[in-house]
Amino acid sequence: MENKRVVLASRPAGWVSEENFRIEAAPMPAPAEGEVLVKNLWLSLDPYMRGRMSDAKSYVKGVELGEVMVGQTVGEVLESRHPKLKKGDHVLTQLGWQLFGTSKEVSKVDGSRAPLSYYLGVLGMPGLTAYFGLKELGQPKPGETVVVSAASGAVGSVVGQLAKARDCRVVGIAGGSAKCEYVKDELGFDVCIDYKAGDLHAALKAACPEGVDVYFENVGGAMLDTLLRQMNLFSRIVVCGLISEYNATEPYGYKNLRAVLVNRIRIQGMIVFDWKDRYGEGLAALSELLQKKQLKYRESIVEGLDNAPTGLISLLKGGNFGKQLVKLA
Ligand SMILES: NC(=O)c1ccc[n+]([C@@H]2O[C@H](COP(=O)([O-])OP(=O)(O)OC[C@H]3O[C@@H](n4cnc5c(N)ncnc54)[C@H](OP(=O)(O)O)[C@@H]3O)[C@@H](O)[C@H]2O)c1
Repeated sequence: MENKRVVLASRPAGWVSEENFRIEAAPMPAPAEGEVLVKNLWLSLDPYMRGRMSDAKSYVKGVELGEVMVGQTVGEVLESRHPKLKKGDHVLTQLGWQLFGTSKEVSKVDGSRAPLSYYLGVLGMPGLTAYFGLKELGQPKPGETVVVSAASGAVGSVVGQLAKARDCRVVGIAGGSAKCEYVKDELGFDVCIDYKAGDLHAALKAACPEGVDVYFENVGGAMLDTLLRQMNLFSRIVVCGLISEYNATEPYGYKNLRAVLVNRIRIQGMIVFDWKDRYGEGLAALSELLQKKQLKYRESIVEGLDNAPTGLISLLKGGNFGKQLVKLA
């Protein structure tokens, strides 16, 4: 068995490129007392990784040059010196972009209840983001109109389905006709707008005749500015992500903030780990919906650690269709 890892070689200015990463051989680690040796099977690729490649101040410290890229994985325990885990167990880890690693901070996952990769998506961080962001900050009421951007993605797809389960009118925004058809026909949103097809403002006006009560923001920039013009009195905007701005070298200049004052809009940012103490509640709710087949989900998979950099670059450009993963083994 040989270990391999992907480290941050340089910090991107603007768009991420393959040159920002270095793939290198790594020593096979041995678990210390209290640790497990894990063979990573699945690596999650997430938009937040772009932020960690930068040294700008953020809610979590960035990756240092030469350090393994951060990321969650699901893997198999090969050797255990952990009191509660044994060889063969499957675990959720923070081991990052490498084939093998050791840790004491892992949590056991059950591959008989759901495919292991789901613990990185619908039954993991993105699913929990959707659950708590919508419930706690969006607070949609039956009959209200909820708009979700990046609607076919890991977070957006769950947000929209949860809002439908709360009897809301749900409008998705996604890039391209294939993603929009999936969002409407498979996920059951009422409408999905292809923002690449033309006038988003006009399309939103037609799709939301009674205005927008909750906007779940995954994109930012021009999309958020356009939505601000459609928001109702006392509406809520959940700022979950601003992916259109992550590779920008200049901040987007918002033009429509007056709407916040006039309509008393509540805009609140969120980071999923603000609800760390309640993950159990979120996972139970999401598992129940999955088991009842009331939650649909899809994945976008690249094969092999060597392809993780291209996978992340593609995700940041919307090349994924569903939760982006790397299959490692
Ligand atoms: N706050 C938190 O705790 C938290 C946790 C998880 C995720 N997030 C955020 O949630 C958002 C979605 O994350 P995810 O993991 O679910 O990713 P995702 O939606 O599965 O994938 C990202 C999607 O963003 C869209 N996109 C990319 N560039 C865009 C652009 N310039 N304009 C419009 N859309 C663009 C693409 O969809 P289209 O092809 O449809 O454009 C792409 O497929 C991200 O902003 C992420 O940072 C936040």
